Amino acid sequence: KGAQGARVFTLGIKAGRTRFKAGATTRTWGVNGTYLGPTIRVRRGEQVEFAVRNGLDEDTSLHWHGMHLPAAMDGGPHQVVGPGETWRPRWTVDQPAATLWYHPHLHGATADHMYRGLSGLFIVDDKDSEASTLPSEYGVDDIPMIVQDRAFDGDNQFEKRVPLGGSVGVIGKEVLVNGALGPYVDVTTELVRLRLLNGSNARLYNLGFSDDRRFSLIATDGGLLAEPWTTERLYLSPGERAEILVAFKPGERVELRSYPSEYGGTLGRIDGFDDRLDICQFRAAAALSDVAALPASLGAAPDLAGETVARERSFVLASDQINGRSMAMDRIDFGVREGTVEVWDVVNDNGFLHNFHVHDVQFQVLTVDGGKPDPHLRGWKDTVLLAQGKHYRLAMRFRGHTDPNTPYMYHCHLLQHEDDGMMGQFVVL
Ligand code: C2O
Ligand code: CU
Ligand code: CU
Repeated sequence: KGAQGARVFTLGIKAGRTRFKAGATTRTWGVNGTYLGPTIRVRRGEQVEFAVRNGLDEDTSLHWHGMHLPAAMDGGPHQVVGPGETWRPRWTVDQPAATLWYHPHLHGATADHMYRGLSGLFIVDDKDSEASTLPSEYGVDDIPMIVQDRAFDGDNQFEKRVPLGGSVGVIGKEVLVNGALGPYVDVTTELVRLRLLNGSNARLYNLGFSDDRRFSLIATDGGLLAEPWTTERLYLSPGERAEILVAFKPGERVELRSYPSEYGGTLGRIDGFDDRLDICQFRAAAALSDVAALPASLGAAPDLAGETVARERSFVLASDQINGRSMAMDRIDFGVREGTVEVWDVVNDNGFLHNFHVHDVQFQVLTVDGGKPDPHLRGWKDTVLLAQGKHYRLAMRFRGHTDPNTPYMYHCHLLQHEDDGMMGQFVVL
C-alpha cells in the first residue's frame, strides 16, 4: 500500500540475457525479468502507484498505453527516468475493462528500447467484465499474447540493421509470443479468449487460422464491443489490441498465422514485410471442458456520434511528419478544452503504412471516408490503422486532468516513424 491506500506495483527495468534458442542467449532488456514484463491487473476505481526503477545505464521511460490519466503520469517523452532513478506515478483507474499495455517512450529511442524487450500488458477489470460469462481464467482460457517479430543476427543477437534505409525500422521473420519462439498453447476448454497485442515495432499482422476457421472479435483497444463480430481475418497494426474468442474441438491442432496483407499502398513490395508467418500453435486436449459462453451482448457501444463537437482538427501523416511538422519537445501543437468532444480527421497521405494513436483518450471512429466503419472499428480505439488516402474521423472526449504545461502525445505507432518525428503534442486546458 502506498500513499492514501494506493496499490503499489514495483517495476525494475534492467538489461540481461534471454534464451530464445537452444544453446544461445540474446542480450535483452526486461521489466522484473530479462524480457518483457509482468501483466499488471487492476480494477476500475482503484488507486494505483508505481515505483518504476531504471536499472539501465541510460535514460528511458514507461508509458501506460490506452490509459486515461494525468499527463504528468503518462510516462511519455517528458517523464524521463534517468539511470538509477525511481519514478513514482500515481492515478485512479477510471475507464471500462480493457486490455492496455505499457512500454518505453523516450523520444528518439522508443523503437530501440521496445525492440530490446521493454513492454507488458496492463489489464483493467470492471464490474461488468467480472460478471460476464466470457472465458476469464488467466493463462487457461483467457490467454495474453504479445506478438512481436524479431530478426536474429549470426550471433543470435537482435538484428539492428534495418531494411529500406531505416524508413520502417526492423522487420523480422521470426515471431515471438510472450517472448517465446515456436510457441504453442495447450487448449483445455472449448472456448478460448486470446488477448492479442501487436507489440512489434513496425509489422502489420493479418491474423487468421490455418484452417480458415472463423473467430469472434469481442474487444478492441478500449474494451468490449457492443456485440461480437465473426470473421476469418483481422488486421492488427503496431500498438493495437484485439480480444478474440476461438472455439476448439477435442484433439485438433491449428495454427494462428499472419497472412499476406492486401493492405495495399507500397507494402506489397517490401521484402519481408508481407510473408505468411506462423504465430502460435493451438493443441486441443482429447477432452475439453465447457466452462464459458459467448454472451449475446458484450459492452456499451461508443456514444459520441450525437455529441456537440467543440472543435474539428485535421491531421495529415506523410514523410515522418504530421501536418508538415516534425515532433519538437518544446512545441505544444494545440490545446483542447476539458469536458469537450472534438473530431479529428486523420489521413495517411503518402501510401506508406501508418497508424494513429492518441494518448489519454479512447476514441470512436465515426466514419471512414464518409462511410460507416467496419465492425472491428465500432468499439473504443486508441490506435487505428490508416488505409492509404482514407479519411478517418475520430471523436473523443477529454475528461479531467487539465495541465497547461504537460502535453500528451499523438503519433504514428510504427516506432521508427514516431522516433523520426511523426508525433505531436497537445495539452488539456
Ligand atoms: Cu504506445 Cu505514445 O504510445
Ligand atoms: Cu500511448
Ligand atoms: Cu507511420
